[in-house]
Amino acid sequence: MTLRVRLAALADLPVGKGTCVAVAGHRIAIFRFGDAIHAIGDRCSHAEASLAEGEVFDGTVECPRHGSAFDLITGIPVSLPATRPVEVYAIEVVDGEVFTTLDPIVEDES
Ligand code: FES
Repeated sequence: MTLRVRLAALADLPVGKGTCVAVAGHRIAIFRFGDAIHAIGDRCSHAEASLAEGEVFDGTVECPRHGSAFDLITGIPVSLPATRPVEVYAIEVVDGEVFTTLDPIVEDES
């Protein structure tokens, strides 16, 4: 079941830096550049460091743990050691509120 969820108020997102939002089992790193918003999975595909804490360069974010850079549009790593992409979330801004759609992640309790 796909959900449309509110992530943040646009005005609360810092420009040029990441913000981590946890919702419906997802941990999402949101990056704002003016009115443009990019959202990718926050867990680095190499060893799960928070990409929201990374530095942003030329449309990429650099993982703060081992330095892989991820493209903010495609989620694809453009440098090692990460080799697998992170999830990309489509963003919609309506009346100053930032939304995405996602499939909730349900933790297996068995
Ligand atoms: S945890 Fe991100 S590159 Fe290793």
